Amino acid sequence: MKSVKTPWTTGALLICTNCGKDISPETLKPLRENGEPSENLKKYLKSALKKSGHDKDIRVMTSSCLDMCDAGRQSGSYIPVGHLGKTENGNEDFTLNPAEDREVVLRFLNSKIIENHK
Ligand code: FES
Repeated sequence: MKSVKTPWTTGALLICTNCGKDISPETLKPLRENGEPSENLKKYLKSALKKSGHDKDIRVMTSSCLDMCDAGRQSGSYIPVGHLGKTENGNEDFTLNPAEDREVVLRFLNSKIIENHK
């Protein structure tokens, strides 16, 4: 195995693609979007990070089940750079309402970028 450096400098966010099956259409209605909720959240976050010039700081990715299932909510796991592969878990794991909490997740990611640039 050869060590390599990630192109993202602050962290990575994994968003479960399986949670969407249990999220009600009523919950998602305010978003007025078609398609899979995790992909829509990923697109939203990537676009917002790119607009602010921080798309290289945090990588947003979708994942299969993260084993943090919380019916009707979207699971995500933030992994700071340098913690992948270590026994110490530096992850910050959460579930969210995909329609109401987008801005909360974006603020969370921006706080990690600011923290990393101090
Ligand atoms: S279905 Fe999403 S964490 Fe399990």
